[in-house]
Amino acid sequence: MSSTSDTADSSSGPGTPLAAATRLITGGRDHNGAALAPTLVNSTTFRPASVLEARRMATQPRPTHFYSRYGNPTVADFEDAIANLEGAEAARAFASGMGAISGTVLALCSKGSHIVAARQLYGGTRQLLENVCPRFGIDVTFVDGTLPGAMAGAVEPGRTTLVIAESPSNPRLDLIDLDELGAIQGPFTVLDSTFATPLGQQPIAHGVDLVIHSASKAIGGHNDAILGVVAGPADLIDWISGFAALQGACASPADALSGLRGLRTLAVRLQQQSATAAELARTLVLHGAISEVCYPGLATHPQHDLAVRQLAMMGGLVTFDLAGGFDAGTKFVEALGLVVHAPSVGGPETLVCHPASTTHVGLDPDDLALDGIGPGTIRLSCGLEATADVVADVCQALGSSGG
Ligand SMILES: Cc1ncc(COP(=O)(O)O)c(C=O)c1O
Repeated sequence: MSSTSDTADSSSGPGTPLAAATRLITGGRDHNGAALAPTLVNSTTFRPASVLEARRMATQPRPTHFYSRYGNPTVADFEDAIANLEGAEAARAFASGMGAISGTVLALCSKGSHIVAARQLYGGTRQLLENVCPRFGIDVTFVDGTLPGAMAGAVEPGRTTLVIAESPSNPRLDLIDLDELGAIQGPFTVLDSTFATPLGQQPIAHGVDLVIHSASKAIGGHNDAILGVVAGPADLIDWISGFAALQGACASPADALSGLRGLRTLAVRLQQQSATAAELARTLVLHGAISEVCYPGLATHPQHDLAVRQLAMMGGLVTFDLAGGFDAGTKFVEALGLVVHAPSVGGPETLVCHPASTTHVGLDPDDLALDGIGPGTIRLSCGLEATADVVADVCQALGSSGG
């Protein structure tokens, strides 16, 4: 396992390359002027110096001072910071993680396209691929992305346009082998790296074309911004940006500002959240009420070796199954005191999600079981409270819910 500070910037020119943790601090400052803090430019429109300048802005792929649906200085600073952290040529921010995912998929696919998708996906992405794409004549094949060779095996040369996966996945933290995904030739390869953050893994270094984040999560980090981003080669980002300007799901400058502010503290937050999650996972594996603990940092996790190879930090999420099923799940959530019942991850507060009673309610239990989501599955996103207080609250809730 490498540490965050080892992730050096090979593109920082002569001199000592800067570590990723340093680039969190130095990145995204092009439009700051003399201001130290990121500056909010919330103007929707900009005055060109001349007609020629207006023409240039109107015809270039990602103008920063034309009209803010096309580009905006604060948003551009956030995009530059993410591109730098991901080792990408460019990035495009969106109004949400789903904006980035739908924008990328719909920009790159057309009627007749074929997508290969790992089935281990956030529910919204799954619905987009399962329900929306077919309406536009885009065919999707789902495979178990954890099975070696499954994604590459489903690619149909000449027809498959895109291979999309998520790692670690929501909610069970399954991992995709990034070397395998990056080695697929022909279609564009896309990874939703939200749960890892740019500090946890570097998909582009493994050969993946495009990396997506819901920056509403750990990157924003304070539960006060809905924001998404895709990073990759400049020509692909230009193409996606052209589509995005018409799709209209552009990032708000205020949320991009929150994204920039969040990046500044991402390393210390992720370290603290990872430490709490690791402690919680170690406690939960010993608890009699729990039938399975999913945490890639556990030596007993089936993909632990892969986790050590490709994750610099194991992250702040822990998912587990309560042996008592649905009743135990609802009682556990209601018995929590400090931990908050709310549907997001990566913020300062430790949050709990019981998919069977909330995000996945009404879905076919057999289908959910295929993805390892059972009636007693619980997802915890560790926050920034003292580790001992989080562990104590989870343990008391397990005790009082019959565990
Ligand atoms: C892994 C993952 N990707 C994408 C999204 C969508 O992000 P947003 O809520 O910013 O649209 C989520 C939301 O929970 C997620 O967990």
